[in-house]
Amino acid sequence: MIEEKGTGRSHASIPVAVPKPISEVEIGEMPRIVTGEQELDRLMGGGIMRGSIVLVAGDPGIGKSTLMTELGRYLDPLTILYVSGEESARQVKLRAERLGAATDNVLLLAETNAPAILDAIEDSLPDVVVIDSIQTLYDPDVSSAPGSVSQIRENAAALMQLTKRMNAATFLVGHVTRSGSIAGPRVLEHLVDTVLYFEGDRNHGYRILRAVKNRFGSTNEIGVFEMTGAGLKQVLNPSEIFLSERQSGIAGSCVVCAVEGSRPLLVEVQALVSKTSYGVPQRTSAGFDPKRLQLLLAVLEKREGLAMGGHDVFLNIAGGVRIEEPAADLGIAAAIASSLYDVPADKYGVLIGEVGLGGEIRGVSRLETRLKECAKLGFERVIVPSKSLQGFVLPSNIEIIGVQTVSEVLELLLA
Ligand code: TYD
Ligand code: MG
Repeated sequence: MIEEKGTGRSHASIPVAVPKPISEVEIGEMPRIVTGEQELDRLMGGGIMRGSIVLVAGDPGIGKSTLMTELGRYLDPLTILYVSGEESARQVKLRAERLGAATDNVLLLAETNAPAILDAIEDSLPDVVVIDSIQTLYDPDVSSAPGSVSQIRENAAALMQLTKRMNAATFLVGHVTRSGSIAGPRVLEHLVDTVLYFEGDRNHGYRILRAVKNRFGSTNEIGVFEMTGAGLKQVLNPSEIFLSERQSGIAGSCVVCAVEGSRPLLVEVQALVSKTSYGVPQRTSAGFDPKRLQLLLAVLEKREGLAMGGHDVFLNIAGGVRIEEPAADLGIAAAIASSLYDVPADKYGVLIGEVGLGGEIRGVSRLETRLKECAKLGFERVIVPSKSLQGFVLPSNIEIIGVQTVSEVLELLLA
């Protein structure tokens, strides 16, 4: 709140911001716009917050424009202004028609001039604005080229002020770039309220949208979508989908349970360990932090005596998901050992636990939620950290094996 206050000081005519007790701060009405698309709503913390600015980032061709176009249908009858700096209005319309999102509530503007876009927003009073993409915007008053860091920052800041003033919500689409010529969306992360990153590789049908930052919801929440001929379709049972191609009796395959955001997710991890034929052993990891993989290999080598030094290790998380939670450690270590010894590990169902540097298994949070998901998907046995088996009633329909060290697990698996 800015108030005039005559303090008698030399700058008295400048409006002075006056602090006030927190109890007197008015929250006002900040309703969320519910899209009705469960995956998206959960990801955003229960809907799109009015007055907020959301960055939607990802590799080119991953589905950002598709999702933004579909917003038109989800939000009908609220007004959405779709500003396209990359495609012509005709191209956007063709896509919208194909997606069944060419509804009357959608206004299209093919423009890159930032001041003109701000004017258009003020004139058309939309509930939601989409800027596709922020890297194409150009303000002639900023001396640098479109796509440069200063253009991106200035334009995003202007959009943010306007969004808050109008109590609308703005989505900024940003391409992740590898070459240095166009500034990536990272320069905006601190400015915006919510950052959604598209994950998953383009060769897979699944697209994971992860909230890496959210001022109005939990972070690391993920939404799972499938890219189909008719746009992005939400996947409400991701664990089932990620496990659907799993074969039993294969060495090197284990199921882990990671809590991403508020939801437990069961996924298959696959390891392939083969003798290094020459030179330095290779370590390749898809969907899991390569440094964490190195650490698990070192624990297996040093604490468990597995000869990892002479083996190449390839690790893959099925379905193109990224697993960031340490609770997947144990399953990954087990998959590696299973492949090394060529012994299938699937009689133990799901493995849950963080691996410590001493080869100990550390507790995980929200074990109850994880166990429920395992039981729901029909698993009969799980291996979990014994430390975490307190404070809740164990489900009766699943056999729970509590463990304290990686050695114990390897003994069970390789027996
Ligand atoms: P797009 O949303 O244009 O990607 P981005 O804006 O992130 O660069 O999506 C591009 C890809 O999605 C493109 O290869 C075609 C595919 N696609 C479908 O498979 N189905 C569809 O209904 C649409 C609209 C796109
Ligand atoms: Mg696009």
